[in-house]
Amino acid sequence: MITQDIFYLGVDDKTIDLFEGQYLVPNGISYNSYLILDEKAAVLDTVDARKTEEYLAKLEQALGGRTPDYLVVHHVEPDHASSIQAVVEKYPSVQLVASAKALQMLPQYFESLDLSGAIAVKDGDVLQLGRHSLTFMAAPMVHWPEVMVSYEPTSKTLFSADGFGKFGALDTQEEWDCEARRYYFNIVGKFGPQVQALLKKAASLQIERICPLHGPILEENLGHYLNLYDIWSRYEPETDGVFIAYASLHGNTAKAAQKLADILKQKGCAQVEMADLARSDMAEALENAFRYSKVVLAASSYNGGVMPFMEDLLHHLAAKNYQKRRVGLVENGSFGPCANRTMQQLLSGMKEIDLVEPAVTIRGAVKESDIPALEALADALLA
Ligand code: FEO
Repeated sequence: MITQDIFYLGVDDKTIDLFEGQYLVPNGISYNSYLILDEKAAVLDTVDARKTEEYLAKLEQALGGRTPDYLVVHHVEPDHASSIQAVVEKYPSVQLVASAKALQMLPQYFESLDLSGAIAVKDGDVLQLGRHSLTFMAAPMVHWPEVMVSYEPTSKTLFSADGFGKFGALDTQEEWDCEARRYYFNIVGKFGPQVQALLKKAASLQIERICPLHGPILEENLGHYLNLYDIWSRYEPETDGVFIAYASLHGNTAKAAQKLADILKQKGCAQVEMADLARSDMAEALENAFRYSKVVLAASSYNGGVMPFMEDLLHHLAAKNYQKRRVGLVENGSFGPCANRTMQQLLSGMKEIDLVEPAVTIRGAVKESDIPALEALADALLA
């Protein structure tokens, strides 16, 4: 129970290995759904088809013998919408409420779903439930084009769809920021301007509770979460520090990266984080590239280009609209070093990337003669 009349209907999924077929979720994920019981009963979103049976049982229990009047669809992506057909089959009189775009998209997933009685709502429309009501706000591309969020004024609750979501099942004891940040940049990161537009709309509301479609319901210290979303969606760094991502063939580039980290710390940089791209979660490396104010990319040259793990990171960053960062480059090459040139080319399509000079070239093992260049890069990063 969230309030006397608003109920949590979501489920934890701790058996899924990859969310969206690509993101590691070691602590699972929750698919959140809500029920408002008033003169009318409204179900808000459903859950992934992996959990339909468990969900229907929870819904039936929460309804306490009532039949839902409305099924509000904020987002059509299957992790929330793939149990819609099952709900409609169980409660045939339920009326779907969604954006026109969502109603247009639903038949892609449900060929036989009867949409003739569905209610199309648009930005600013209000669904009256009795004492409660839902005011809809279009939130296109947060994270799909059909997305809406809604605000319930009696309880001052924002139903925020994927916004303010987090990886990790609800029974996981972990800090919100880290897994919410990894979720944000990988799922919604490309759409900063659209998130900014939504935050501007939300700024006029009195919000005491945020109910997202993944992760915990947020009820305390809301300024903290809103502030992080503002920073993230403006592509501003959250933490002043250096993230060193490296891809090393025989361990020498890894040693250069470690040496640079040691020099940075000696020079007083308190926040240095490293990732071996061959052995760490690419989604977390991407998250850290957005988190820190400065990034160093250190990589072996490979086949006339750069080691594929580094190329992969740069492609992921470009796809998520990476921008506004200071970036240092370290390459290794025993013959014809070309990693820096390749990394520079991949960075050149991104906005407001400030390449920090000097770029460093190591040839084979890290030698005493390489230290001055690493020192100079560290000084430039900290300047
Ligand atoms: Fe959680 Fe965009 O679906």
